[in-house]
Amino acid sequence: MRKLVAGNWKMNGTRAALDDLRAIAAAHPSPQVDLLICPPATLLAAASSATEGTPLYIGGQDCHAAPSGAHTGDISAPMLADCGATAVILGHSERRENHHETNGLVRDKALAAFDAGLTAIICIGETLAQREAGDTLDVIRDQLDGSLPDTATAANSVIAYEPVWAIGTGKVASLDQIGEVHDFIRENITARFGDAASGLRLLYGGSVKPGNAAEIFGVSNVDGALVGGASLKEVDFSPIIKALEGTI
Ligand code: 13P
Repeated sequence: MRKLVAGNWKMNGTRAALDDLRAIAAAHPSPQVDLLICPPATLLAAASSATEGTPLYIGGQDCHAAPSGAHTGDISAPMLADCGATAVILGHSERRENHHETNGLVRDKALAAFDAGLTAIICIGETLAQREAGDTLDVIRDQLDGSLPDTATAANSVIAYEPVWAIGTGKVASLDQIGEVHDFIRENITARFGDAASGLRLLYGGSVKPGNAAEIFGVSNVDGALVGGASLKEVDFSPIIKALEGTI
């Protein structure tokens, strides 16, 4: 399995940010891990051009479940692929919360991503209230069962565990908390998909920074990270990439 560092730029970045993207690509001409940045949709085509011929892949942050049609403001998976995207983040907690996305909708979007040849990065994670109620593993099980299609494989899917309370807050889950959930996810998908699940990458996300990346990457079944704020600048993102390379 090749490990993966993915950056989620969320609603950040205008064309000036393409310089940051070029800087990230230039700093890692032959990385030992996969590198992906998911810029806002407005930058996808330019980002693909800016990184052409480099090992930095470009991805979307969401897609519609239909390939085309009367859906004002939405973007389809084939459109992302047409812009040069190779992956798409789906079911991020910010979309589940702000746009009321359900597990079923996330699954349908993942199927659309597969049809377009994109890797689906399916996000799951509990809220603080769910953790405090002792419901974390039940929530994770429900999200996996409902969001991950039966046709998911190590080639077309990545799972990102992002505890909602650790996103953008500077609060990182403890190594024990991360390990417990990642082991649980691996067991769950192994029970469902068999040995094929051993190659499916599990990313941790939530306030990953240069200062904590190495210890997070040392946790069992953590195969990389989905990074928000610290993926915007090369100076923050590069040490995280190097920390993951250091585990190989
Ligand atoms: P932060 O790294 O900014 O906490 O964001 C994590 C995230 O939501 C990535 O998808």
